[in-house]
Amino acid sequence: MKFFVDTGDINEIRDLAATGLLDGVTTNPSLIAKAGKPFIPLIEEICSVVTGPVSAEVAATDYETMSKEGAKLAQIAPNVAVKVPLTPAGLKVCKELSDGGTMVNVTLCFSPLQALLAAKAGASFISPFVGRLDDISQDGMQLIADILTIYDNYPDFQTEVLVASVRHPVHLLEAARLGAHVATCPPDVIRKLYHHPLTDKGLAAFVEDWKKTGQSIL
Ligand code: G3P
Repeated sequence: MKFFVDTGDINEIRDLAATGLLDGVTTNPSLIAKAGKPFIPLIEEICSVVTGPVSAEVAATDYETMSKEGAKLAQIAPNVAVKVPLTPAGLKVCKELSDGGTMVNVTLCFSPLQALLAAKAGASFISPFVGRLDDISQDGMQLIADILTIYDNYPDFQTEVLVASVRHPVHLLEAARLGAHVATCPPDVIRKLYHHPLTDKGLAAFVEDWKKTGQSIL
């Protein structure tokens, strides 16, 4: 399973990239606004830190402008995945960019049929938002299961299921159990994955017992 981090914070990205566990980055206009930095140079910087896909989202909603924005974002670096919304204009741009060899991440997916459309449009990634579905009392993980089933029925589809709007480690656990290809998580969710109280307790005991031996490995 690939781990992407969902942030526009370059320091967080550098920190997580150093763990060797980071396979890519996703951003969106809200995260860029939170980062408070000029968009294009920020994406350039992220692409210089991370070799995997870096999602950069278009801002326009009409086809003509979105198409130009997508072409511009695609020029930033070979590992840019242009992010487009799951709308008729977004999928038209998706098809265009995919046909030209650019990775596309189709975002704001909330139904299995939307995901089917994105795969047909040649998306590299489909981003179903599990947390936002859970927020309105719908089952976000059921959406992931449905999309994976549909995609498995059609081996010609190359689209990877990128679980988005991940809010806590259990989202990631369930996504991994289902076999989702990728999950994009806020930095704090990735950090939480390391922790278990029994690990801390066990390590403290080993450290104490090792001291009693009076030995040194080095
Ligand atoms: O990048 C899109 C997605 O991960 C947003 O998450 O928490 O704003 O629903 P959230």
